[in-house]
Amino acid sequence: MKALILAGGKGTRLRPITHTFAKQLVPIANKPILFYGLEAVAQAGITEVGMIVGDTREEIRAAVGDGARWGLRVTYIPQEAPLGLAHAVKIAKDFLSNDQFVVYLGDNLIKDGITPFIKGFIQRRPNAQILLAKVPHPERFGVAELVEGRVVHLDEKPLHPKSELALVGVYLFDSTVFEILGDLKPSWRGELEITDAIQGLIDRGYEVRHYVISGWWKDTGRLEDLLEANRLVLETLTTSNAGQVAPDVRLEGKVIIDGFEGFTESRDRSSVNVLRSKNPQ
Ligand code: DAU
Repeated sequence: MKALILAGGKGTRLRPITHTFAKQLVPIANKPILFYGLEAVAQAGITEVGMIVGDTREEIRAAVGDGARWGLRVTYIPQEAPLGLAHAVKIAKDFLSNDQFVVYLGDNLIKDGITPFIKGFIQRRPNAQILLAKVPHPERFGVAELVEGRVVHLDEKPLHPKSELALVGVYLFDSTVFEILGDLKPSWRGELEITDAIQGLIDRGYEVRHYVISGWWKDTGRLEDLLEANRLVLETLTTSNAGQVAPDVRLEGKVIIDGFEGFTESRDRSSVNVLRSKNPQ
């Protein structure tokens, strides 16, 4: 199975942060958002990754390289403009060939990774599989309507959502989706929507399975979401102390203290927050 990671587009909603760099490279707990996606893909046992890139392709390439750091082989697929998620899948057809594949949006973070969803898809072999999450503001996402436990309708950012179930930015497909992509028309926002492609599969009677995820999921498209994602990731860190704490120092909250010799090195480690606390009360 291959993965297609989407790291194109323009981060207009994250301005001014992304005036200067790709939104997928904004750090969450000291690590670019995109790296969490690469890790999730590698953990799921996938090695072949297609990376959709746009205007910020050079920065993405400089950060990710050939993917060997994660045990991946990354092929860059340039998209001339952000013409939609389904457009990105369409232009990756040659890379994806006739295999099953996962599409992962480069600005999404899923706490528990994607391994169980990939396994379920490989075993059951539906034509597509989507992940859903209950959210307080479904109108900001693609929204699924379920009838008797089956997805019957999907709407992209509807004014009046029919449920609280948002589409998470991880989709699994077999090659049937390319039948639909050929006929797809741009939406009201001028994009080829993946939501419409999945609706096309449903309308033609193909099997679209869904999972409702229980762990947290974040689309980091807005500044508030970035801060929330940062908080959620920091919460998953385990407190540790390899140093020495003076009797008059009190540590509060989640704190990782490295030993003195390791201090310089640990500042460069991307996944660990180091806090040296000296706060006599
Ligand atoms: O995050 C989940 C949501 O993602 C879903 O609920 C929606 O149904 C789905 O349409 C999508 O909505 P967004 O409006 O949040 O997608 P966005 O334009 O932010 O793009 C998601 C990622 O894909 C981002 O990393 C940029 C990249 N992208 C986007 C477009 C439109 C591309 O690489 N190429 C593109 O053409």
